[in-house]
Amino acid sequence: MDKEKVGGVCLNHGCIPAKALIHAAGFQENIKHWAEIGIHTDNLEIDFQEIQEWKSEARTKLTHGIEQLLEQHGVEFIQGTAHFQDSNTLRVEEEHDAVNIEFENAIIATGSKPVELEGFEFDHEKVISSRELLELDEVPEELVVIGGGYIGLEAVTKFCKFGSTVKVLEAHERVLPNFDEALVEEIREVSPCYGDEIYTNAEAKELRDGNEKAVVVAEQDGEEIEVEGDYVLVAVGRTPNPVLEELDIENTSVEVDEKGFVEVDETMETSDPGIYAIGDCAGQPLLAHKAYREGKVAAEVIAGEPAAFDNHYIPKVIYTDPEIAVVGMTPEEAKEEFSEIKTGKFPFSSSGRALTTNQDSGFVRVVASTDEKLLGTQIVGPRASDIIAEATLALEMQAYLDDIINTIHAHPTFPEAFQEACEDAKDESIHSA
Ligand code: NAI
Repeated sequence: MDKEKVGGVCLNHGCIPAKALIHAAGFQENIKHWAEIGIHTDNLEIDFQEIQEWKSEARTKLTHGIEQLLEQHGVEFIQGTAHFQDSNTLRVEEEHDAVNIEFENAIIATGSKPVELEGFEFDHEKVISSRELLELDEVPEELVVIGGGYIGLEAVTKFCKFGSTVKVLEAHERVLPNFDEALVEEIREVSPCYGDEIYTNAEAKELRDGNEKAVVVAEQDGEEIEVEGDYVLVAVGRTPNPVLEELDIENTSVEVDEKGFVEVDETMETSDPGIYAIGDCAGQPLLAHKAYREGKVAAEVIAGEPAAFDNHYIPKVIYTDPEIAVVGMTPEEAKEEFSEIKTGKFPFSSSGRALTTNQDSGFVRVVASTDEKLLGTQIVGPRASDIIAEATLALEMQAYLDDIINTIHAHPTFPEAFQEACEDAKDESIHSA
């Protein structure tokens, strides 16, 4: 059951519509470079409303796909808001009715919602979350973003390319504070979108009404600054609060930690036997691909299969341009655990595939132990989101550098850069300049 459509935040209001818009914005930006390869575009017309319609169609196709899959597999979907009555009963309030459902097993997957910042409470018109941002019907002239994390920087990727001036206020000394500095430096060097209007050490304090525009007052290095925009996107993190606010979880013996995450064991079972929790409500990182795996584990355990969430590596991808993707240890983290390590790096400027697609910025870096076991991979560059899958597989399989080096990689392809970075860690890279 779900109080909204099937598919959750990722499909309906997050990953899918966001990446569709990033794709469209990428076209708009790329057109500027078409002349470099001899394609000249005159009388070009870009219709943002048509882009939004195309995005919504992609989302609808996926939602219908899920509805069909549920039907094919004999799953009944009830649209309504669920409340626990006790450890074996749920009350579901539908639009005009309410039903009690007895269960042996239940899986809580209530996700997360945006954190509300004091002084910047969502009015869903001027002060918006990523949900409203994805549904705008015109490209704003100026957009203020509070928070330079995942959502903030992906908002930059989309709207800077669509032509907005996007101004980011980040309280930390740099954007994406939880990511390797070298990766962030690279995107800042490649695109002015991630540099010109980024205010770091800047904590948003107060919202002032500036007639047509919203004015955000922030404290930057002890000084007061004012930044104005047509909308203020608040992207300062997400909270698993729906569990506490709506489910009447106190009628069960499910335990929730001090941050509001449901406590689960490696089978995704909560402290109330038969009740499981998966996804954002079950803990960090708040990523859809972690949730998919957890959902499979919970379903397999309920079906009596031996299963556990025993994954050691969860890749993270940020759709900046170029993309950032990481998995496993950074050099700093590896040095803390093993005093000596090996690192290797391969720039996309030396990759045949990157040059043939006119996207040659960024690099792949690998981290390995002195006995050459892969410990981590950081990528900034074209198709980083795809290449990271091979690095994640290599880490889960406890691969050594030679396992990757001696695997034939098709040529010319982007993943060759991962193989070359592994060779570089052994001082054996042939194609590195
Ligand atoms: P975030 O945790 O990634 O970033 C929030 C940022 O806001 C931090 O850098 C923090 O220092 C800053 N901040 C906090 N208070 C502030 C203030 N008063 N003034 C200025 N800056 C302030 O959170 P975000 O971007 O809201 O994303 C939430 C979650 O959604 C992410 O942690 C991620 O798990 C998920 N997500 C994943 C995506 C992906 O996988 N590509 C895309 C979008 C979201």
